[in-house]
Amino acid sequence: MTQPQPTAGTLTTESGAPVADNQNSATAGAGGPLLLQDQYLLEKLARFNRERVPERVVHARGSGAYGHFEVTDDVSAYTGAHFLGEVGRRTETFLRFSTVADSLGGPDAARDPRGFALKFYTEEGNYDLVGNNTPVFFIKDPLKFPDFIHSQKRDPFTGRQEPDNVWDFWAHSPEATHQVTWLMGGRGIPASYRHMNGYGSHTYQWTNASGETFFVKYHFKTNQGVRCLSSEQGAELSGTDPNSHQTDLLQSIERGVYPSWTLYVQVMPADEAADYRFNPFDLTKVWPHADYPLQRVGRLVLDRNPDNVFAEVEQSAFSPNNFVPGIGPSPDKMLQGRLFAYADAHRYRLGVNHTQLAVNAPRAAASNHGRDGLMAVNPQGRYARNYEPNSYGGPVETGRPLSAPLPVSGWTGTHQAPQHTKDDDFFQAGELYRLMSEDEKARLVANIAGGLSQVSREDVIEKNLAHFHAADPHYGKRVEEAVRELREG
Ligand code: HEM
Repeated sequence: MTQPQPTAGTLTTESGAPVADNQNSATAGAGGPLLLQDQYLLEKLARFNRERVPERVVHARGSGAYGHFEVTDDVSAYTGAHFLGEVGRRTETFLRFSTVADSLGGPDAARDPRGFALKFYTEEGNYDLVGNNTPVFFIKDPLKFPDFIHSQKRDPFTGRQEPDNVWDFWAHSPEATHQVTWLMGGRGIPASYRHMNGYGSHTYQWTNASGETFFVKYHFKTNQGVRCLSSEQGAELSGTDPNSHQTDLLQSIERGVYPSWTLYVQVMPADEAADYRFNPFDLTKVWPHADYPLQRVGRLVLDRNPDNVFAEVEQSAFSPNNFVPGIGPSPDKMLQGRLFAYADAHRYRLGVNHTQLAVNAPRAAASNHGRDGLMAVNPQGRYARNYEPNSYGGPVETGRPLSAPLPVSGWTGTHQAPQHTKDDDFFQAGELYRLMSEDEKARLVANIAGGLSQVSREDVIEKNLAHFHAADPHYGKRVEEAVRELREG
Protein backbone atom coordinates (compact mmCIF):
# COMPACT_ATOMS: atom_id res chain seq x y z
CA MET A 1 0.00 0.00 0.00
CA THR A 2 1.52 3.38 -0.96
CA GLN A 3 1.11 5.93 1.75
CA PRO A 4 1.33 9.60 0.74
CA GLN A 5 3.02 11.68 3.42
CA PRO A 6 0.97 14.49 4.97
CA THR A 7 2.44 17.94 4.40
CA ALA A 8 4.45 19.19 7.34
CA GLY A 9 2.99 21.98 9.45
CA THR A 10 3.35 23.29 12.95
CA LEU A 11 2.38 21.00 15.81
CA THR A 12 -0.23 22.73 17.96
CA THR A 13 -2.18 22.28 21.18
CA GLU A 14 -5.86 21.46 20.89
CA SER A 15 -6.68 25.14 20.98
CA GLY A 16 -4.25 25.76 18.14
CA ALA A 17 -1.23 27.30 19.86
CA PRO A 18 2.20 26.24 18.50
CA VAL A 19 3.98 23.56 20.53
CA ALA A 20 7.62 24.36 21.34
CA ASP A 21 8.79 20.99 22.68
CA ASN A 22 7.07 17.63 22.22
CA GLN A 23 9.95 15.59 23.72
CA ASN A 24 10.52 17.10 27.16
CA SER A 25 7.90 18.07 29.72
CA ALA A 26 8.40 21.20 31.81
CA THR A 27 10.07 20.76 35.22
CA ALA A 28 11.27 22.96 38.06
CA GLY A 29 14.92 22.84 37.17
CA ALA A 30 16.65 20.14 35.12
CA GLY A 31 16.07 17.25 37.57
CA GLY A 32 13.02 18.68 39.34
CA PRO A 33 9.32 17.77 39.51
CA LEU A 34 6.76 18.64 36.86
CA LEU A 35 5.13 22.05 36.64
CA LEU A 36 1.35 22.37 36.79
CA GLN A 37 1.68 25.11 34.24
CA ASP A 38 2.75 22.57 31.60
CA GLN A 39 -0.80 22.53 30.25
CA TYR A 40 0.33 20.85 27.05
CA LEU A 41 1.44 17.75 28.99
CA LEU A 42 -1.76 17.73 31.06
CA GLU A 43 -3.93 18.12 27.98
CA LYS A 44 -2.10 15.28 26.24
CA LEU A 45 -2.42 12.87 29.18
CA ALA A 46 -6.03 13.82 29.88
CA ARG A 47 -7.08 13.34 26.27
CA PHE A 48 -5.31 10.00 26.13
CA ASN A 49 -7.33 8.83 29.14
CA ARG A 50 -10.52 9.59 27.23
CA GLU A 51 -9.72 7.88 23.92
CA ARG A 52 -12.16 5.00 24.41
CA VAL A 53 -15.93 4.97 24.44
CA PRO A 54 -17.80 1.96 25.85
CA GLU A 55 -17.46 -0.91 23.42
CA ARG A 56 -20.60 -2.43 21.96
CA VAL A 57 -22.13 -4.82 24.50
CA VAL A 58 -22.22 -7.40 21.68
CA HIS A 59 -20.51 -7.30 18.26
CA ALA A 60 -17.65 -5.28 19.80
CA ARG A 61 -15.00 -6.41 17.30
CA GLY A 62 -15.67 -5.36 13.72
CA SER A 63 -14.52 -3.94 10.40
CA GLY A 64 -16.27 -1.52 8.08
CA ALA A 65 -16.20 -0.18 4.54
CA TYR A 66 -18.14 2.20 2.30
CA GLY A 67 -19.68 1.31 -1.01
CA HIS A 68 -22.87 1.51 -3.00
CA PHE A 69 -25.97 -0.48 -3.75
CA GLU A 70 -27.33 -0.58 -7.30
CA VAL A 71 -30.79 -1.83 -8.21
CA THR A 72 -30.65 -4.46 -10.98
CA ASP A 73 -34.27 -5.71 -10.94
CA ASP A 74 -37.63 -4.00 -10.65
CA VAL A 75 -39.20 -4.59 -7.22
CA SER A 76 -41.56 -1.62 -7.31
CA ALA A 77 -44.52 -4.04 -7.29
CA TYR A 78 -43.56 -4.88 -3.69
CA THR A 79 -42.16 -1.70 -2.17
CA GLY A 80 -42.44 2.03 -2.68
CA ALA A 81 -38.96 2.58 -1.18
CA HIS A 82 -37.38 5.27 -3.33
CA PHE A 83 -33.86 3.80 -3.28
CA LEU A 84 -35.23 0.55 -4.71
CA GLY A 85 -37.57 2.32 -7.11
CA GLU A 86 -35.70 2.17 -10.41
CA VAL A 87 -33.28 -0.21 -12.10
CA GLY A 88 -29.84 1.43 -12.16
CA ARG A 89 -30.47 3.63 -9.10
CA ARG A 90 -27.39 3.81 -6.84
CA THR A 91 -27.31 4.51 -3.14
CA GLU A 92 -24.23 5.13 -1.01
CA THR A 93 -23.75 2.53 1.77
CA PHE A 94 -21.61 1.73 4.80
CA LEU A 95 -21.29 -1.86 5.99
CA ARG A 96 -19.88 -3.04 9.32
CA PHE A 97 -19.01 -6.69 9.80
CA SER A 98 -18.38 -8.10 13.26
CA THR A 99 -17.99 -11.11 15.49
CA VAL A 100 -20.52 -11.30 18.33
CA ALA A 101 -19.33 -12.72 21.61
CA ASP A 102 -15.81 -11.51 22.21
CA SER A 103 -14.68 -8.08 23.34
CA LEU A 104 -12.71 -5.58 21.28
CA GLY A 105 -9.45 -7.26 20.38
CA GLY A 106 -10.97 -10.74 20.16
CA PRO A 107 -9.84 -12.89 17.21
CA ASP A 108 -11.60 -12.51 13.86
CA ALA A 109 -11.46 -16.24 13.06
CA ALA A 110 -13.66 -17.35 15.99
CA ARG A 111 -16.54 -19.81 15.67
CA ASP A 112 -19.26 -17.22 16.11
CA PRO A 113 -21.98 -15.64 13.98
CA ARG A 114 -20.83 -12.60 12.03
CA GLY A 115 -22.70 -9.30 12.03
CA PHE A 116 -23.66 -7.82 8.67
CA ALA A 117 -24.88 -4.28 9.44
CA LEU A 118 -25.67 -2.21 6.40
CA LYS A 119 -26.56 1.47 6.22
CA PHE A 120 -28.16 2.79 3.04
CA TYR A 121 -27.83 6.59 2.85
CA THR A 122 -31.05 7.04 0.87
CA GLU A 123 -32.68 10.25 -0.34
CA GLU A 124 -35.47 9.59 2.17
CA GLY A 125 -33.21 9.08 5.17
CA ASN A 126 -30.95 6.30 6.37
CA TYR A 127 -32.18 2.74 6.10
CA ASP A 128 -30.30 0.36 8.43
CA LEU A 129 -30.51 -3.38 7.84
CA VAL A 130 -28.76 -4.91 10.84
CA GLY A 131 -28.36 -8.58 10.06
CA ASN A 132 -26.01 -11.52 10.48
CA ASN A 133 -24.33 -14.10 8.25
CA THR A 134 -26.93 -16.61 9.47
CA PRO A 135 -30.55 -16.74 8.30
CA VAL A 136 -31.84 -17.69 11.78
CA PHE A 137 -31.08 -16.90 15.43
CA PHE A 138 -30.83 -18.73 18.77
CA ILE A 139 -33.93 -17.33 20.47
CA LYS A 140 -37.30 -15.92 19.53
CA ASP A 141 -38.14 -13.57 22.39
CA PRO A 142 -36.12 -10.42 23.20
CA LEU A 143 -36.66 -11.00 26.93
CA LYS A 144 -34.12 -13.82 26.66
CA PHE A 145 -31.42 -11.82 24.88
CA PRO A 146 -29.47 -10.49 27.91
CA ASP A 147 -29.44 -14.00 29.47
CA PHE A 148 -28.34 -15.54 26.20
CA ILE A 149 -25.49 -13.07 25.77
CA HIS A 150 -24.39 -13.44 29.41
CA SER A 151 -24.10 -17.18 28.85
CA GLN A 152 -21.89 -16.72 25.76
CA LYS A 153 -19.58 -13.94 26.95
CA ARG A 154 -17.00 -14.09 29.76
CA ASP A 155 -18.17 -15.48 33.09
CA PRO A 156 -18.18 -12.80 35.83
CA PHE A 157 -16.07 -14.97 38.17
CA THR A 158 -13.68 -16.86 35.89
CA GLY A 159 -13.34 -14.08 33.32
CA ARG A 160 -13.45 -16.71 30.54
CA GLN A 161 -16.02 -17.99 28.09
CA GLU A 162 -17.31 -21.11 29.82
CA PRO A 163 -18.63 -24.20 27.98
CA ASP A 164 -20.77 -24.83 31.09
CA ASN A 165 -22.62 -21.53 30.59
CA VAL A 166 -22.81 -21.72 26.80
CA TRP A 167 -24.36 -25.19 26.79
CA ASP A 168 -26.47 -24.66 29.90
CA PHE A 169 -28.32 -21.84 28.16
CA TRP A 170 -28.84 -23.98 25.07
CA ALA A 171 -29.97 -26.90 27.26
CA HIS A 172 -32.85 -24.69 28.39
CA SER A 173 -33.52 -23.21 24.93
CA PRO A 174 -34.57 -25.95 22.54
CA GLU A 175 -35.47 -23.28 19.97
CA ALA A 176 -31.70 -22.68 19.59
CA THR A 177 -31.10 -26.15 18.05
CA HIS A 178 -31.44 -24.86 14.47
CA GLN A 179 -28.93 -22.04 14.92
CA VAL A 180 -26.57 -24.23 16.98
CA THR A 181 -26.55 -26.72 14.08
CA TRP A 182 -25.77 -23.85 11.72
CA LEU A 183 -23.02 -22.40 13.93
CA MET A 184 -21.30 -25.71 14.63
CA GLY A 185 -21.52 -26.73 10.97
CA GLY A 186 -19.22 -26.01 8.04
CA ARG A 187 -20.14 -22.32 7.78
CA GLY A 188 -19.50 -21.51 11.45
CA ILE A 189 -16.10 -19.89 10.80
CA PRO A 190 -16.03 -17.78 7.61
CA ALA A 191 -12.60 -17.54 5.95
CA SER A 192 -13.08 -13.76 5.71
CA TYR A 193 -15.84 -11.18 5.76
CA ARG A 194 -15.76 -11.17 1.95
CA HIS A 195 -16.46 -14.88 1.71
CA MET A 196 -19.76 -15.10 3.56
CA ASN A 197 -23.39 -14.30 2.88
CA GLY A 198 -25.43 -11.73 4.78
CA TYR A 199 -29.05 -12.10 5.86
CA GLY A 200 -31.61 -9.69 7.24
CA SER A 201 -32.69 -12.78 9.22
CA HIS A 202 -35.95 -11.24 10.45
CA THR A 203 -39.03 -10.88 8.34
CA TYR A 204 -39.66 -7.26 7.32
CA GLN A 205 -42.65 -5.53 5.86
CA TRP A 206 -42.63 -3.96 2.41
CA THR A 207 -45.48 -1.72 1.25
CA ASN A 208 -45.94 -0.75 -2.40
CA ALA A 209 -47.23 2.53 -3.81
CA SER A 210 -50.83 1.21 -3.74
CA GLY A 211 -50.54 0.37 -0.05
CA GLU A 212 -50.35 -3.42 -0.54
CA THR A 213 -48.26 -5.25 2.05
CA PHE A 214 -45.69 -8.02 1.61
CA PHE A 215 -43.41 -9.77 4.06
CA VAL A 216 -39.81 -10.15 2.94
CA LYS A 217 -36.57 -11.80 3.96
CA TYR A 218 -33.25 -10.40 2.69
CA HIS A 219 -30.37 -12.56 1.41
CA PHE A 220 -27.03 -11.04 0.36
CA LYS A 221 -25.11 -13.74 -1.52
CA THR A 222 -21.38 -13.20 -1.70
CA ASN A 223 -19.99 -12.96 -5.23
CA GLN A 224 -16.59 -14.07 -3.92
CA GLY A 225 -17.99 -17.52 -3.14
CA VAL A 226 -18.55 -18.90 0.35
CA ARG A 227 -15.27 -19.97 1.96
CA CYS A 228 -14.92 -21.24 5.50
CA LEU A 229 -12.32 -22.51 7.93
CA SER A 230 -12.23 -25.74 9.90
CA SER A 231 -12.04 -25.54 13.70
CA GLU A 232 -8.32 -26.32 13.52
CA GLN A 233 -7.66 -23.65 10.88
CA GLY A 234 -9.72 -21.12 12.86
CA ALA A 235 -7.84 -21.87 16.09
CA GLU A 236 -4.47 -21.51 14.38
CA LEU A 237 -5.36 -18.28 12.59
CA SER A 238 -6.82 -16.79 15.78
CA GLY A 239 -3.41 -17.24 17.35
CA THR A 240 -1.18 -16.21 14.47
CA ASP A 241 -3.28 -13.35 13.05
CA PRO A 242 -6.16 -12.23 15.30
CA ASN A 243 -6.92 -9.45 12.77
CA SER A 244 -7.26 -11.80 9.81
CA HIS A 245 -10.69 -10.57 8.62
CA GLN A 246 -9.76 -6.91 9.09
CA THR A 247 -6.54 -7.39 7.12
CA ASP A 248 -8.31 -9.23 4.32
CA LEU A 249 -11.02 -6.58 3.90
CA LEU A 250 -8.64 -3.64 4.16
CA GLN A 251 -6.10 -5.02 1.73
CA SER A 252 -8.62 -6.26 -0.78
CA ILE A 253 -10.24 -2.82 -1.07
CA GLU A 254 -6.87 -1.01 -1.08
CA ARG A 255 -5.80 -3.25 -3.99
CA GLY A 256 -8.92 -2.33 -5.91
CA VAL A 257 -10.43 -5.82 -5.58
CA TYR A 258 -13.87 -4.71 -4.46
CA PRO A 259 -16.03 -7.32 -2.75
CA SER A 260 -19.66 -7.52 -3.81
CA TRP A 261 -22.88 -9.25 -2.87
CA THR A 262 -26.07 -9.85 -4.83
CA LEU A 263 -29.23 -9.03 -2.91
CA TYR A 264 -32.21 -11.35 -3.23
CA VAL A 265 -35.49 -11.26 -1.35
CA GLN A 266 -38.11 -13.84 -0.55
CA VAL A 267 -41.51 -12.22 -0.85
CA MET A 268 -44.66 -13.41 0.91
CA PRO A 269 -47.99 -11.66 0.20
CA ALA A 270 -49.33 -10.49 3.58
CA ASP A 271 -52.49 -12.58 3.41
CA GLU A 272 -50.45 -15.82 3.25
CA ALA A 273 -48.75 -15.22 6.61
CA ALA A 274 -51.53 -16.48 8.88
CA ASP A 275 -51.77 -19.92 7.24
CA TYR A 276 -48.12 -20.54 6.35
CA ARG A 277 -46.87 -23.84 7.81
CA PHE A 278 -44.15 -22.00 9.78
CA ASN A 279 -44.78 -18.88 11.81
CA PRO A 280 -43.23 -16.37 9.38
CA PHE A 281 -42.27 -14.07 12.26
CA ASP A 282 -40.29 -16.72 14.16
CA LEU A 283 -36.59 -15.87 13.86
CA THR A 284 -35.53 -19.47 14.53
CA LYS A 285 -37.11 -20.58 11.22
CA VAL A 286 -36.33 -20.10 7.54
CA TRP A 287 -38.80 -20.03 4.68
CA PRO A 288 -37.75 -22.89 2.39
CA HIS A 289 -36.92 -21.51 -1.05
CA ALA A 290 -39.37 -23.96 -2.62
CA ASP A 291 -42.13 -22.05 -0.80
CA TYR A 292 -40.79 -18.55 -1.49
CA PRO A 293 -38.07 -18.42 -4.16
CA LEU A 294 -35.27 -15.88 -4.17
CA GLN A 295 -35.92 -12.83 -6.32
CA ARG A 296 -32.96 -10.69 -7.32
CA VAL A 297 -32.96 -7.01 -6.33
CA GLY A 298 -29.49 -5.56 -6.81
CA ARG A 299 -25.80 -5.51 -6.16
CA LEU A 300 -23.85 -4.22 -3.19
CA VAL A 301 -20.19 -3.25 -3.73
CA LEU A 302 -17.66 -2.16 -1.10
CA ASP A 303 -15.02 0.11 -2.64
CA ARG A 304 -13.65 2.48 0.01
CA ASN A 305 -11.96 1.92 3.33
CA PRO A 306 -12.67 4.34 6.15
CA ASP A 307 -9.85 6.79 6.85
CA ASN A 308 -10.12 6.36 10.59
CA VAL A 309 -11.30 3.19 12.27
CA PHE A 310 -12.40 4.85 15.50
CA ALA A 311 -14.28 7.74 13.90
CA GLU A 312 -16.03 5.72 11.25
CA VAL A 313 -16.25 2.11 12.45
CA GLU A 314 -16.23 2.29 16.25
CA GLN A 315 -18.58 5.27 16.18
CA SER A 316 -20.85 3.89 13.46
CA ALA A 317 -24.34 3.29 14.76
CA PHE A 318 -26.89 1.01 13.10
CA SER A 319 -30.42 0.70 14.32
CA PRO A 320 -33.10 -1.69 13.07
CA ASN A 321 -35.64 1.08 13.72
CA ASN A 322 -34.19 3.27 10.95
CA PHE A 323 -36.73 2.64 8.21
CA VAL A 324 -37.63 4.62 5.08
CA PRO A 325 -41.04 4.91 3.37
CA GLY A 326 -42.03 1.54 1.89
CA ILE A 327 -40.22 -0.57 4.50
CA GLY A 328 -41.31 -1.39 8.04
CA PRO A 329 -41.12 -3.92 10.85
CA SER A 330 -42.99 -7.22 10.98
CA PRO A 331 -44.58 -8.40 14.25
CA ASP A 332 -41.49 -10.59 14.98
CA LYS A 333 -41.04 -10.09 18.75
CA MET A 334 -37.25 -10.20 18.50
CA LEU A 335 -37.26 -7.48 15.88
CA GLN A 336 -39.69 -5.42 17.94
CA GLY A 337 -37.31 -5.64 20.91
CA ARG A 338 -34.40 -4.60 18.72
CA LEU A 339 -36.32 -1.53 17.56
CA PHE A 340 -35.75 -0.18 21.08
CA ALA A 341 -32.34 -1.63 21.99
CA TYR A 342 -30.00 -0.15 19.40
CA ALA A 343 -30.79 3.57 19.51
CA ASP A 344 -30.74 3.26 23.30
CA ALA A 345 -27.27 1.67 23.10
CA HIS A 346 -26.12 4.50 20.84
CA ARG A 347 -27.30 7.18 23.25
CA TYR A 348 -25.33 5.46 26.01
CA ARG A 349 -22.26 4.55 23.96
CA LEU A 350 -21.94 7.60 21.71
CA GLY A 351 -24.31 10.22 23.08
CA VAL A 352 -27.57 11.73 21.99
CA ASN A 353 -26.01 13.56 19.02
CA HIS A 354 -24.44 10.47 17.42
CA THR A 355 -26.53 11.03 14.28
CA GLN A 356 -24.47 14.17 13.63
CA LEU A 357 -21.26 12.16 13.16
CA ALA A 358 -20.37 11.96 9.48
CA VAL A 359 -20.68 8.16 9.25
CA ASN A 360 -24.16 8.23 10.82
CA ALA A 361 -25.55 11.47 9.42
CA PRO A 362 -28.27 11.05 6.81
CA ARG A 363 -27.35 12.38 3.38
CA ALA A 364 -30.98 13.49 3.11
CA ALA A 365 -31.58 16.69 5.06
CA ALA A 366 -32.65 15.90 8.64
CA SER A 367 -35.11 18.48 9.86
CA ASN A 368 -36.72 18.14 13.27
CA HIS A 369 -37.00 19.76 16.67
CA GLY A 370 -34.58 17.56 18.61
CA ARG A 371 -32.03 19.93 20.15
CA ASP A 372 -29.00 20.39 22.33
CA GLY A 373 -27.41 17.71 24.54
CA LEU A 374 -23.77 16.73 24.73
CA MET A 375 -21.67 17.86 21.74
CA ALA A 376 -24.51 19.61 19.88
CA VAL A 377 -23.42 21.58 16.82
CA ASN A 378 -26.76 23.22 16.02
CA PRO A 379 -26.97 22.31 12.33
CA GLN A 380 -30.44 23.91 12.22
CA GLY A 381 -29.07 27.43 11.98
CA ARG A 382 -30.08 30.74 13.49
CA TYR A 383 -33.69 31.06 12.40
CA ALA A 384 -35.08 27.56 12.92
CA ARG A 385 -37.67 27.44 15.70
CA ASN A 386 -37.27 24.53 18.14
CA TYR A 387 -40.96 23.68 18.44
CA GLU A 388 -43.78 22.49 16.23
CA PRO A 389 -46.26 23.63 15.01
CA ASN A 390 -44.82 27.07 14.32
CA SER A 391 -45.57 30.05 12.13
CA TYR A 392 -42.04 30.37 10.75
CA GLY A 393 -41.94 27.80 7.99
CA GLY A 394 -40.63 24.96 10.16
CA PRO A 395 -40.68 21.36 8.95
CA VAL A 396 -44.10 19.69 8.94
CA GLU A 397 -45.37 16.11 9.15
CA THR A 398 -46.42 14.29 5.96
CA GLY A 399 -49.44 12.40 7.31
CA ARG A 400 -48.18 9.34 5.39
CA PRO A 401 -47.05 6.39 7.55
CA LEU A 402 -43.80 4.73 6.35
CA SER A 403 -45.47 1.34 6.13
CA ALA A 404 -49.02 0.01 6.04
CA PRO A 405 -50.89 -0.82 9.28
CA LEU A 406 -51.13 -4.48 10.30
CA PRO A 407 -54.21 -6.03 11.95
CA VAL A 408 -53.91 -7.30 15.54
CA SER A 409 -56.29 -9.14 17.87
CA GLY A 410 -56.41 -10.78 21.30
CA TRP A 411 -55.58 -9.98 24.91
CA THR A 412 -52.55 -8.30 26.37
CA GLY A 413 -50.27 -10.65 28.32
CA THR A 414 -47.00 -12.57 28.20
CA HIS A 415 -47.82 -14.87 25.30
CA GLN A 416 -45.66 -17.47 23.62
CA ALA A 417 -45.30 -16.91 19.87
CA PRO A 418 -48.17 -18.53 17.93
CA GLN A 419 -47.44 -22.07 16.68
CA HIS A 420 -48.20 -22.80 13.03
CA THR A 421 -48.85 -26.32 11.74
CA LYS A 422 -45.21 -27.31 11.11
CA ASP A 423 -43.71 -25.33 13.99
CA ASP A 424 -41.56 -27.10 16.50
CA ASP A 425 -38.06 -26.43 17.74
CA PHE A 426 -36.40 -29.29 15.87
CA PHE A 427 -37.83 -29.95 12.41
CA GLN A 428 -35.78 -27.35 10.56
CA ALA A 429 -32.61 -28.25 12.51
CA GLY A 430 -33.10 -31.83 11.31
CA GLU A 431 -33.68 -30.63 7.75
CA LEU A 432 -30.40 -28.71 7.86
CA TYR A 433 -28.57 -31.77 9.17
CA ARG A 434 -30.08 -34.03 6.49
CA LEU A 435 -29.03 -31.55 3.78
CA MET A 436 -25.35 -31.87 4.73
CA SER A 437 -22.87 -34.17 3.00
CA GLU A 438 -21.37 -37.00 5.04
CA ASP A 439 -18.18 -35.01 5.47
CA GLU A 440 -20.10 -31.94 6.72
CA LYS A 441 -22.09 -34.10 9.14
CA ALA A 442 -18.89 -35.60 10.54
CA ARG A 443 -17.36 -32.15 11.13
CA LEU A 444 -20.59 -30.83 12.67
CA VAL A 445 -20.69 -33.75 15.09
CA ALA A 446 -17.00 -33.30 15.98
CA ASN A 447 -17.44 -29.56 16.58
CA ILE A 448 -20.47 -30.05 18.84
CA ALA A 449 -18.81 -32.88 20.74
CA GLY A 450 -15.65 -30.79 21.18
CA GLY A 451 -17.65 -28.15 23.09
CA LEU A 452 -20.30 -30.28 24.78
CA SER A 453 -17.79 -32.79 26.14
CA GLN A 454 -16.20 -29.99 28.20
CA VAL A 455 -19.43 -29.41 30.15
CA SER A 456 -19.13 -30.48 33.78
CA ARG A 457 -22.76 -31.48 34.45
CA GLU A 458 -24.26 -34.66 33.01
CA ASP A 459 -27.81 -33.29 33.14
CA VAL A 460 -26.82 -30.34 30.93
CA ILE A 461 -25.18 -32.70 28.45
CA GLU A 462 -28.28 -34.94 28.47
CA LYS A 463 -30.64 -32.04 27.77
CA ASN A 464 -28.54 -30.93 24.81
CA LEU A 465 -28.30 -34.47 23.45
CA ALA A 466 -32.08 -34.74 23.64
CA HIS A 467 -32.34 -31.71 21.32
CA PHE A 468 -30.09 -33.30 18.68
CA HIS A 469 -32.00 -36.59 18.98
CA ALA A 470 -35.26 -34.71 18.47
CA ALA A 471 -33.87 -32.99 15.37
CA ASP A 472 -32.82 -36.30 13.81
CA PRO A 473 -32.22 -39.62 15.62
CA HIS A 474 -29.10 -40.27 13.54
CA TYR A 475 -27.75 -36.78 14.41
CA GLY A 476 -28.45 -37.33 18.12
CA LYS A 477 -26.86 -40.77 18.17
CA ARG A 478 -23.67 -39.59 16.50
CA VAL A 479 -23.28 -36.58 18.80
CA GLU A 480 -23.93 -38.78 21.83
CA GLU A 481 -21.30 -41.31 20.77
CA ALA A 482 -18.73 -38.61 20.02
CA VAL A 483 -19.32 -36.90 23.38
CA ARG A 484 -19.00 -40.18 25.27
CA GLU A 485 -15.82 -41.05 23.43
CA LEU A 486 -14.22 -37.70 24.28
CA ARG A 487 -15.30 -37.86 27.94
CA GLU A 488 -14.22 -41.43 28.46
CA GLY A 489 -11.17 -41.35 26.19
C1 HEM B 1 -33.67 -8.97 20.99
C2 HEM B 1 -32.55 -9.34 20.45
C3 HEM B 1 -31.36 -8.43 20.31
C4 HEM B 1 -30.97 -7.38 21.07
C5 HEM B 1 -31.64 -6.80 22.30
C6 HEM B 1 -29.75 -6.87 20.48
C7 HEM B 1 -29.02 -5.81 20.97
C8 HEM B 1 -27.86 -5.33 20.41
C9 HEM B 1 -27.09 -4.24 20.94
C10 HEM B 1 -27.43 -3.44 22.19
C11 HEM B 1 -26.05 -4.05 20.11
C12 HEM B 1 -24.94 -2.99 20.24
C13 HEM B 1 -25.32 -1.78 19.42
C14 HEM B 1 -24.31 -0.67 19.54
O1 HEM B 1 -23.75 -0.46 20.62
O2 HEM B 1 -24.09 0.03 18.54
C15 HEM B 1 -26.15 -4.99 19.04
C16 HEM B 1 -25.31 -5.08 17.97
C17 HEM B 1 -25.57 -5.83 16.86
N1 HEM B 1 -26.58 -6.75 16.69
FE1 HEM B 1 -27.99 -7.19 18.03
N2 HEM B 1 -29.44 -7.61 19.37
C18 HEM B 1 -30.41 -8.57 19.23
C19 HEM B 1 -30.49 -9.53 18.24
C20 HEM B 1 -29.80 -9.47 17.06
C21 HEM B 1 -30.10 -10.24 15.89
C22 HEM B 1 -31.24 -11.23 15.77
C23 HEM B 1 -29.19 -9.86 14.94
C24 HEM B 1 -29.06 -10.32 13.51
C25 HEM B 1 -30.05 -10.82 12.82
C26 HEM B 1 -28.32 -8.87 15.52
C27 HEM B 1 -27.30 -8.23 14.87
C28 HEM B 1 -26.49 -7.27 15.44
C29 HEM B 1 -25.37 -6.67 14.74
C30 HEM B 1 -24.92 -6.96 13.32
C31 HEM B 1 -24.80 -5.77 15.63
C32 HEM B 1 -23.58 -4.90 15.37
C33 HEM B 1 -24.02 -3.61 14.68
C34 HEM B 1 -22.80 -2.78 14.36
O3 HEM B 1 -21.99 -3.26 13.54
O4 HEM B 1 -22.68 -1.69 14.91
N3 HEM B 1 -28.71 -8.66 16.81
N4 HEM B 1 -27.26 -5.78 19.26
